[in-house]
Amino acid sequence: MEDLLIKLKNDLDKANSLLDLEKIRVSYLGKKSFIAQQMKLLSSLENDKKAELGKTLNIAKKNMLLLIEDKTAQIDAVQSYEPIDISRPGKALYESTKVGHMHPNNIVLKETYRVFTELGFAIVDSPEIETDWYNFEALNMPEVHPAREMQDTFYIKGTDQKLLPRTHTSGMQVRFMENNKPPFKIIVPGKVFRNENEDATHAWVFNQIEGLVVGEGVSVTDMKGTLLQIVKKQLGPETEIRFRASYFPYTEPSVEVDAKFNGKWLELGGAGMIHPNVLVNGGIDPEKYSGFAFGWGAERLAVIKYGINDLRQLWRPKFEYLEQF
Ligand code: FA5
Repeated sequence: MEDLLIKLKNDLDKANSLLDLEKIRVSYLGKKSFIAQQMKLLSSLENDKKAELGKTLNIAKKNMLLLIEDKTAQIDAVQSYEPIDISRPGKALYESTKVGHMHPNNIVLKETYRVFTELGFAIVDSPEIETDWYNFEALNMPEVHPAREMQDTFYIKGTDQKLLPRTHTSGMQVRFMENNKPPFKIIVPGKVFRNENEDATHAWVFNQIEGLVVGEGVSVTDMKGTLLQIVKKQLGPETEIRFRASYFPYTEPSVEVDAKFNGKWLELGGAGMIHPNVLVNGGIDPEKYSGFAFGWGAERLAVIKYGINDLRQLWRPKFEYLEQF
C-alpha cells in the first residue's frame, strides 16, 4: 500500500487540471482499480484475514482521497484567482454603491450643528460620565429634591465622587460657566442615559442638544426668537412653535417647546431663563448677566423630520431600515 500511495503522490504532482485529477481518481479508486479489486476479494477470505485486509484497504482509500482533495483545492485556488490588472483606471470611493452612509441621527445632528453655527453658536464637547454635583446639585437639585425623580438615573456603584452616566446634557451648564466669561452662545450635543421603560417615544439612551446663552440683558424674547429661528431652519420656514409652562429647578420661568409640523404639535424639549442660583454656581454675577438654556432630543427631531413611528428603530442596527433615510 505504501508504494501505491507514493505512486499516487507522483501522479498528483504532475496533474495540472481538474480533468487530470478525475482521471487519477478513477484509476486509483474507480471500479477497475487495484483497491476495488482487493475489496471484491474480501468476501472470499476468512474472518480474521477479512478484518485485517478490510482495515488496511479502508485506511489506504481514506488517505488517497485526502491527497486527491488536497490537490483539487490547490488547482481550484489557482483557477479561481483573477489576476489584477494594474493598468485599469481607479474608481473613486464615493461612486461606489457599497460605501456606508450617514445614520439618520447623525444627519440630524450635522444639520443642527450647521444651523447653530450659522447663528454664531460654538459647539462644545462634554463628558458622558458626570458627577452628582454638575448633573443635579449645581442645577438647584440637592439630594432630597423631588425633581431628581423626573429623570430615572443609573448610578455607578463604588465611586466616592458619586459618578453617574449623565441623565441630561444640562450638567455642562455650570461646567462651562466656571471656565468661560460671558457673553457666550454654545450648544452641547451628546448622549444621555436614563433608566427608562422603553416605548415608541422613549429610549434608554438618546442624544440631547443643550443650548446655553449668557450675556447682559438677555431676555425671554431673545429665547423665543432664537428657538423660532432654529426650528424654522431645521423643519422649514413655515414651522410654528409654542411655549407651554413647565418646571425645571434650574430655569425660571421654564417652558416646554412644541413645534407644529405637518399640522401636529410635537414636543421638542425643555427651555427657560437660567435660574440666578445656577449662574452663581458657575461664578457668574446674576445682577449683571442673564441667559437662557434649552435641551432637546435629537431623536425626537429625527422622528418628526422623517415620520418615524418608533424612535427605538434609530438605536437598532437594522441596515435595510436605516438605509432609507
Ligand atoms: C431635560 O432633560 C432638561 N435638561 C431640558 C432643559 C435644558 C430644560 C435646559 C431647561 C433648560 P427632559 O427630560 O424633558 O428635559 O428632556 C428633554 C428632551 O429630551 C425631551 O423633550 C425629549 O425630546 C427628549 N427625551 C427625553 N426623554 C427621552 C427618551 N427617553 N428618549 C428619547 N428622547 C427623550
